[in-house]
Amino acid sequence: MKARPGRQRGGTRSVPQAPPLPAALTPAAMQRRLRTASLGQRIHYYTSIGSTNERALELASEGAPEGSLVLAERQTRGRGRRDRFWHSPPSVGIYASLILRPGIESARAPLFTLMASLVVASGLAKACRLEARIKWPNDVVVRGRKIAGILGEARGAEARLSDMVVGIGVNVNHRSEDFPRELHGRPTSVRIETGAPFDRCELLSEILEIFERQYAALLRDGPADLLRAWRGLTSMPPGTRVRLEAGHEPVEGTLQDIDDDGALLLREDAGSTRRVPFGEIVVPL
Ligand code: BTN
Repeated sequence: MKARPGRQRGGTRSVPQAPPLPAALTPAAMQRRLRTASLGQRIHYYTSIGSTNERALELASEGAPEGSLVLAERQTRGRGRRDRFWHSPPSVGIYASLILRPGIESARAPLFTLMASLVVASGLAKACRLEARIKWPNDVVVRGRKIAGILGEARGAEARLSDMVVGIGVNVNHRSEDFPRELHGRPTSVRIETGAPFDRCELLSEILEIFERQYAALLRDGPADLLRAWRGLTSMPPGTRVRLEAGHEPVEGTLQDIDDDGALLLREDAGSTRRVPFGEIVVPL
């Protein structure tokens, strides 16, 4: 006898199966997947928290070891750069903060956030096959739309950085409607780009494994390789005209390069080169 469509031989109705949802981003799931020696081996996990960066700064000041990771399913006061809010809805994103103790001069701290953006772009390329690029200083973009952001923070004003926190936010399984209306059109996610949900444990593990290698190389060999990799992945090549918000007055000019501390070098119209350690490219002109 021929089975009728929609029924199995035993008479039970076959229901079209939705693809299985990726696993929750829990410490147990991370432990099964993660292959690092230090980064992420201690996880402080929260189903909901104000900001993982804020918590990581507290833990760092209490002496938490290097590589400790604060991980949350949701943030209620996620922090972005320049006092912005980082929208962090439950169960779709990666909201993670790493405690580092690099012991280098504080002026070089931007190198570590620059490195983190490169690491996240490489993780997205390797795990999700996305062509991710870096928009100075720390944005990760796909097709010009932001998919991840990095927030490096340190407390205190020591000459050497005894501890710092690198916060990583990645839009993974967000659909367009998961972003606030006012951001409409600007952010993107792995799911929007590939059309399918992705396992956040797999992506975060990939990111931490690349991070561990790059971090060791940066401390051991200095920034030359990092800067070379950055030049290959920048979304705005030298010669691009930009407007920068850096301090009170916007500055306009032509992008030249970044220096050994990760500061942007901008050729101003008068011909001089301005060094911009912190800021944001607001308008490619
Ligand atoms: C930016 O692009 O403005 C930086 C966004 C950084 C967001 C991450 S999410 C995890 C960590 N905790 C925070 O409060 N912020 C960072």
